[in-house]
Amino acid sequence: MKRTTLISPADVDQQLEHCQAVAALAAQWPDKPLAFVDTYGCQQNEADSERIRGYLAKMGFGFTDNEEEARIIVINTCAIREHAEHRVFGNVGALVHTKRRHPEQLICLCGCMAQQPRVVQAIRESYRHVDLVFGPHVLWKFPEMVHTLLTRRSRMFLTPDEPGSIAEGIPVVRQDRVRAWVSVMYGCNNFCSYCVVPYVRGRERSRRQPDILAEVRQLVEEGYKDITLLGQNVNSYGRDLDEVTDFSDLLEAVNAIPGDFLIRFMTSHPKDATQKLFETMARCEKVAPVLHLPFQAGNDRVLKVMNRRHTRGEYLEKISRLKELIPDIVLTSDIIVGFPGETTREFEDTLKVLEEVRFDALFTFIFSPRPGTPAAEMDDPMPREEKLANFNRLTALQDKISEEKHAAYVGRTLRCLIDAPSDDARYDFSARTPGNRLVRVAGSGARPGQFRDVRITDSNKWSLSGELV
Ligand code: 5AD
Ligand code: SF4
Repeated sequence: MKRTTLISPADVDQQLEHCQAVAALAAQWPDKPLAFVDTYGCQQNEADSERIRGYLAKMGFGFTDNEEEARIIVINTCAIREHAEHRVFGNVGALVHTKRRHPEQLICLCGCMAQQPRVVQAIRESYRHVDLVFGPHVLWKFPEMVHTLLTRRSRMFLTPDEPGSIAEGIPVVRQDRVRAWVSVMYGCNNFCSYCVVPYVRGRERSRRQPDILAEVRQLVEEGYKDITLLGQNVNSYGRDLDEVTDFSDLLEAVNAIPGDFLIRFMTSHPKDATQKLFETMARCEKVAPVLHLPFQAGNDRVLKVMNRRHTRGEYLEKISRLKELIPDIVLTSDIIVGFPGETTREFEDTLKVLEEVRFDALFTFIFSPRPGTPAAEMDDPMPREEKLANFNRLTALQDKISEEKHAAYVGRTLRCLIDAPSDDARYDFSARTPGNRLVRVAGSGARPGQFRDVRITDSNKWSLSGELV
């Protein structure tokens, strides 16, 4: 059964024609037009913004971070927590003044918030200076939307509710010269009870392997050294494809591309983190020894209500098998504190997982009810102060573990990827260990994009420091 809709190359070509039409209009404006693309949320959104910039560049736009000088503003939004939404509404609200000063400005809102009817209604009624709202499913039609806006100035809302599609051949303008994101799949089928992603990003769908390999090959030729394969649920890759293939096969194929570069991937779900994946990671020399494997909560009752489909025991067993295969594996995870009904005793099971696994770093969140998800309807009796107290216990424990883990690096020499000049005057470069820990490096003669041996001399809970060997 074939479930993924591929946008036809002719349809994508038509969008490139819209780019040319916009470029022809823009050529008549007095100044070269600039665009401001403001991105919230995860790497998937960063990757989407790179495609929006790719289209904008083809339309003749340059880029700015200053909303005053932008002819087009695109706000690529995140809906994962209420806090992210508030920030977006605040910033979009403030643009009403900018637009008053520059009435020709086009203001566009896209990303995960744009796919929620509640948000679309609020923008329609209360943020009338926003010209265009479009959801993730129609990003590939961005040039056509801009063209229409420029020729027929009326507001547009394009947020079809669909399982989603895949469009190849969209131009990209990347933000970095050393690290690159490559989306390999989109969407999520898991429906964890707290999460809005499956509702806004559609069903899981995978890009064809040859398209992914061609993109990575080109990045390697352009000199990229650190390539992250992206997907909301990356190790479900391939289930929707006609060929019999999976994420491990994809890793193996990317690893076979000639060149000196590192492969990372995120995000993985414990239920799909198989022994085959671990063995492939151990065998493939370019796959970085790091795994981001969210476990969210340490208590089995809570995991069940979260609809996580794994238990604490299963998670810990997988981690211990992975550590056997790759002893210096760097582990990170996401955790939610204060899920509806989680007691402080149940929360303490999360602390036990931290003690047992000893993650290198964590991304920790307090539960935020997302309208439309089952968890938003659940009884949530725990007072905010108690949740905060638990959250602080969690971060204090993790700080201690991160500090100890980082201290263990001191004295070692690691092959690190120099990724940028340092923004800290005491150092010359910022670099990353193979496991993606940040290293501030002193020394001369290196340049971004080089792998260099670095002797680690000091550490704290956030990062390492060292000198070029
Ligand atoms: N509240 C708090 N955190 C959430 N996450 C996802 N949904 C919510 C929510 N409603 C966290 C999960 C996920 C990460 C990307 O964000 O930990 O792994
Ligand atoms: Fe935010 Fe999730 Fe959407 Fe990423 S996928 S932008 S984290 S809601």
